[in-house]
Order: sequence, then C-alpha cells, then structure tokens
Amino acid sequence: MKMQHRVSLVGAGPAGFALAIDLEKRGTNVLVYSHPSHLRHVNDVQDKGLLTVRGKLEGSTVLRITSNMRDVIGFSNLIILTVPSTGQETVLQELKKFSLHQHTIVAVPGNLFGLVAEMEVGCIVETNLSPYSCRMDEERLVVLGKKHLVFIAALQKDPGLEIQETMKRIFPLELKWCSNVVEVCLLNVNGVFHPLMMLMNAGRIENTDGNFLLYRDGLTRSVANAMLAVDRVRMEVGEAFGFRMKSAVEISNECYDQSFTDLIDLAQNSGPHNKLKAPSDLENRNISEDVSDLLISWHSLAEKLGIDASPIRAIVVLVEMATGVNYFKIGRDLYKLHLQDVSRNELIQRFGPSTRQNGH
Ligand SMILES: NC(=O)c1ccc[n+]([C@@H]2O[C@H](COP(=O)([O-])OP(=O)(O)OC[C@H]3O[C@@H](n4cnc5c(N)ncnc54)[C@H](OP(=O)(O)O)[C@@H]3O)[C@@H](O)[C@H]2O)c1
Repeated sequence: MKMQHRVSLVGAGPAGFALAIDLEKRGTNVLVYSHPSHLRHVNDVQDKGLLTVRGKLEGSTVLRITSNMRDVIGFSNLIILTVPSTGQETVLQELKKFSLHQHTIVAVPGNLFGLVAEMEVGCIVETNLSPYSCRMDEERLVVLGKKHLVFIAALQKDPGLEIQETMKRIFPLELKWCSNVVEVCLLNVNGVFHPLMMLMNAGRIENTDGNFLLYRDGLTRSVANAMLAVDRVRMEVGEAFGFRMKSAVEISNECYDQSFTDLIDLAQNSGPHNKLKAPSDLENRNISEDVSDLLISWHSLAEKLGIDASPIRAIVVLVEMATGVNYFKIGRDLYKLHLQDVSRNELIQRFGPSTRQNGH
C-alpha cells in the first residue's frame, strides 16, 4: 500500500500556496498555517471556498487551514516555513512553545533562519530561494515560473539520507546540497538584485505606483554596475570561507536553467524576470526582507572576515535616508545570528566547506 505523506506549511502567501497545491497534486496531504495577525490571503481563499491556480500549475483545491500552531505540530513532523524571513521570528515564538525534537523545519528561503532560531529541533534545513515565482491575482494564484534547481543545506552536521530523501520527495526540482546554511544564504541572489533595483528606481516607483517592469525597464547599465560591486562583496565573503563562488548571473542561470551572459541580458530576456511589475512603493520585501536578512548578514560576515563591504554599507545607509528604517539596527547581524563572540578563524572553521556545521 502506498504511504500517505503529510506536510505542514507555515506561511499562507503565494509561495506557500503554490507548494501546497503542488504537494497535494503529488499525493501529499497539506495543512497550511496562517498566523492570526496575518490572515490576508487565507481570508480570501476561505471566502471563496477553494484555491484556484493557473499558469505553470493548473487546478483548484480545498486547503486545510489553521491558525493554531498545535495543529501544525500534530499534523506532521515536517514543517515548511514559507513566510518571508522577516516573519520567521513571529512564527518562532509560536513554534518554541512545543517540543520539536522529532520535527524537521525547512525554511524556504532560509536567510540563516537556523542561526537565528536557537532552538532544539530534530533538523533544520534551509533553501536559497522559493521553487516558484507566483503571485495572487484576484484571489487566484498565478504561478509564473518554476525553478529548475534550488540550493539547500542543513544546520546539523549531517542531515542523513532520510532527510535528503524526504527533501527530494517534497521539492519538485533538482536540489543541490551545500556545505552549510551560510553557503546557502550567500546563494540567495535576491540580495544582489532587489535592493539596488528598488533604490535606483525609487523616483520612478513613486511616480508611477510601480507601473513599469522592474527588471526589463529598471535594470539598466548603471544599475548593473552597482550590482556588480555588491556581487563582488558577496563572492569575496564566500571565497574567504573557501567556497567556489559564482556570480549572481551564473547562480540565477543554474536555478532557472538559463544561459544569460550578463545582468542586462538576464533582465531583458529571462521569462520569469522580464514580466515582473515593479512594486508600488519602497515599503516592500525587496527592501525589508533582502536588506534586513541578506545584505546585513553579508555585511557583518564581511566585516568579521576583513573584507571591504562599503558597497553594501552604501545601500543600507541610503535605504535609511530614503525610508527612515535603520537596518543596521534591526537586520540579521552577528548578534542576531549568535556569532558575535566567534573569532574570524572560528567562523571560517565552523562554516568552511569541509563541514556541515551546527551554528551554536
Ligand atoms: N512569490 C514569489 O514569487 C517568490 C519568489 C521567490 C521567493 N519568494 C520568497 O518566498 C517567501 C514567501 O513569499 P510569498 O510571496 O508567499 O510572501 P507573502 O505573501 O508576503 O507572505 C507569506 C505569508 O507570510 C505571512 N507573513 C508575513 N509576515 C509575517 C509575520 N511577521 N508573521 C507571520 N506571518 C507573516 C503573510 O501574511 P500577510 O500577507 O497577511 O502579512 C503571508 O500569509 C518570501 O521569503 C519571498 O521572498 C517568493
């Protein structure tokens, strides 16, 4: 008899819904959790009675939905977080009320969730990106693209074959296992793309309510030049750990199975990117998530490693000047990652390529 699998998904936005529908289609029962103060999409779906999807996935399904974390823990030993990383701490407060020694938590994307979490869990796994590009469109889920590959790692030294097999079953794409969560975080290229496209197009965003194509119209030569400076910092950080680093374009090519030669080529010609509309204002996760949880962590790692991180510092300062939010204060620096007392050498030893290492 075929075994019936179950998965709990924490995060009821387009990324969580796309994974939920895909899993249900492939015979896995899913329970979706929406935090009681974050019910926006869930209310829409419940009003309609079912979730309809179109695009790269087609169909409709009645989702099991809860706002009670006890249901999540009981439903499955496998919990996938699909909240933005800025929401991880809110759901952590709920998760920490339970014993999770038998559970595996998978953060999609991770952005160093495992280091922030500081909790006893059977296993923590992180990916660099979400498998789908998707959005809600009048209560329908639209899946615009599906990645070919995501990068993945466990916080624990060796996740074991069983976890690797489970991840293979859950994610409908190729998984490339990395040494550890720091390497995976350095492979989330949204930190290179998003904040600069937002900042360098701020006037246009605010003038048009985002009525232009963010990559196709907004990633021009000078924006690309600035991105290359940030990308160099990201790569230098990875190289200091001993990882073989690739450029943001090469990583994106690998994830989407494409072969663009540079950032402009990608912005103009990549199907999953060149039709994306700009957000309507700067208060968007392209800044709140990607500056807070990617750029600040890359910056603080760079400083500890003795790498010039001034291109990232410039972005964070300008973001504060433009929005009033000081991400140096609230972002994932070494304190938030519980690495403030770790020396440069310990840091490299702990997260260098030869080990899959526990961050605590
Ligand atoms: N959608 C995509 O195409 C795509 C592509 C690549 C990567 N990703 C990544 O995948 C993740 C999820 O994306 P998404 O589009 O599904 O995001 P989303 O709709 O903005 O958020 C997902 C869910 O998390 C909830 N949430 C937000 N902040 C929270 C908090 N502080 N505490 C508890 N719940 C919170 C949202 O509720 P409310 O909306 O009610 O606040 C929503 O139910 C993000 O990290 C995103 O960067 C998405």
